[in-house]
Amino acid sequence: MIYIIFGVSGTGKTTIGKMLSCALNIPFYDADDFHPEVNIKKMSDGVPLNDTDRAPWLNLLGDKIKTWNKSSGAVLACSALKESYRDILKSVDSKDIKWIFLNTDIELISNRLKSRKNHYFNAKLLQSQFETLEVPGYGLHINANQPKNKIIKQILNNIMVKSSFGIIGLGVMGKSLALNIAGKETSVSVYNRQIPEIEVDIAEKFVNEHIKMPFQGFDKLSDFVLSLEKPRNILLMVNAGKPVDYVIDDLLPFLDVDDLIIDGGNSHFLDTTKRIKRLDDHKIHFIGMGVSGGEEGALKGPSMMPSGSKQMYERIESVLNTISAKDKNGNSCCAYIGPEGSGHFIKMIHNGIEYGEMQILAEIYYLLRFHGEKSPIEIASVFENWKNDDLSSYLLEITIDILRKKEGEDFLIDKILDMASQKGTGGWSTNAALDLGKPFDTISASVMARYMSAMKLTRVKASKLYSSIVKKHVDIDIDKLKSTYKASRIINHAIGFDTIQEASKEYNWNLNLSEIARIWTNGCIIRSSFMEKLVKYFKNSNEHLLLHAEIVEELEASISDYGLIVGQALNGGCTLPVISSGLNYFLGFVSEKSSANMIQAQRDYFGAHTYQRVDKPFDSYFHTQWT
Ligand code: 6PG
Repeated sequence: MIYIIFGVSGTGKTTIGKMLSCALNIPFYDADDFHPEVNIKKMSDGVPLNDTDRAPWLNLLGDKIKTWNKSSGAVLACSALKESYRDILKSVDSKDIKWIFLNTDIELISNRLKSRKNHYFNAKLLQSQFETLEVPGYGLHINANQPKNKIIKQILNNIMVKSSFGIIGLGVMGKSLALNIAGKETSVSVYNRQIPEIEVDIAEKFVNEHIKMPFQGFDKLSDFVLSLEKPRNILLMVNAGKPVDYVIDDLLPFLDVDDLIIDGGNSHFLDTTKRIKRLDDHKIHFIGMGVSGGEEGALKGPSMMPSGSKQMYERIESVLNTISAKDKNGNSCCAYIGPEGSGHFIKMIHNGIEYGEMQILAEIYYLLRFHGEKSPIEIASVFENWKNDDLSSYLLEITIDILRKKEGEDFLIDKILDMASQKGTGGWSTNAALDLGKPFDTISASVMARYMSAMKLTRVKASKLYSSIVKKHVDIDIDKLKSTYKASRIINHAIGFDTIQEASKEYNWNLNLSEIARIWTNGCIIRSSFMEKLVKYFKNSNEHLLLHAEIVEELEASISDYGLIVGQALNGGCTLPVISSGLNYFLGFVSEKSSANMIQAQRDYFGAHTYQRVDKPFDSYFHTQWT
């Protein structure tokens, strides 16, 4: 692009041109530098140039413009007073030239020129310049009688190509989503903070690596905001917690009413609800959006769970639909979830289910490997058969790949330290279930299993002290193990969805369980053939999954195998925290009579907490003097 800043002498063309060239990072040229000697002499002598004098100069500039346009573009300061002069400068396609006219009045300019030293322009020529000037009906007309910074801001505001979407945070997920969105023909501005020696020129490097894509990169927040179409849509891909608030604080001064911030990180749902309310006071919209699928999902199509204002969701719905994964019917794996932080709530439960699913697979691997003496390759084959049968899932697939991965002669899995990390969502989901008063056995057990794994040094010490615990061989029937896997997964999902249903009631979110299952059928980490079934089950009823007729049939068929495997494994000294807690949950769930009558009696005994009776109405309470 060639930016031609034009107008009579003394309007500040050179100063503004240099500032613009600096802002756009392209070269600056002053047309005065291309005048032949003879023209300079004439002007210095106060003799106005005529059209014949100007012709070779303008032709030379026309040629230069062609060359500059082929390279990086340029900013040219040139009087270009008459249309015929400008016609000569139009040596390239009209869309490649931006005309910026600095408009002013004669009095102001003559005062300015009088104060200039070392300039060959004679102030007497000014009158002739104004007489020659033909004000064009096109181009950007800027009032030159204002501070230079203001002029530059106006020019930049006007000439800048505006992006339709903004992304803050170029971590793994931010980059992948940016590529996904830009790949669907949506222009994207990206911003990344600068931290000396740690995060340096991230946005610039990213844009340079993808030069053919519609990106603009910034490390200055105000410029980033300025580069966005209004009302702005800005996606935050920063770490959950305080960083989200810091970015919001930094952004706020630059935002306008009706702008929208979308938080695509794994934020806590209560924080999201608070942020929606806080930004509402500024008339800025906020959407909390769970995004699942990891790096590959974000790039090729994630599952997305937006919540907050429905109207705002509709504003970005088409972009979200184009970038999301698609279900088996070709519909987007993204749907409006509900008000407040409900999107982040279900993402948190998604992660809880994910923790459970991962741990179930890890426990089966452990049982087969260390109590069934199977090699990773043999275990991979077992899993492969299950996958090809009716148990396919993304997590099963990646586990097969992991088991087959070798490093030289060795299996890589054997080289990985047995201490699991976590970023928090599993623990949050456990806390949320506690707050809602819901049993959360498999998921909370999976969080605890990670904590137990982290006690590596103590475990090593304890393993030496308890020498009587013999890790015995377990004769594992693979079909029974398959039933166990199937049943424990059903229970893990049932627990997750039951908690979602409870939150829906508690917070008045009116969540649609079938739709939630549908957007989890693809793109996300817990996608599976079983999730497809859940779409159907929850369509008919939001009742607890374990009460669904087809599930009853499946569990009835597998529960004795499940009990057998858990019994054998525990007896063989094999730890199965999630699989066994799933069985316990199930047995508790199907027990008409629980042990809680004893708990109530004990509570009443030591604390006079009262109890209800089976032979009296449930709304009456009793206390006994036990001694
Ligand atoms: C997803 C994942 C993603 C992330 C997990 C990892 O849905 O894409 O869940 O959000 O990989 O949060 O969590 P941990 O580090 O706690 O295992």
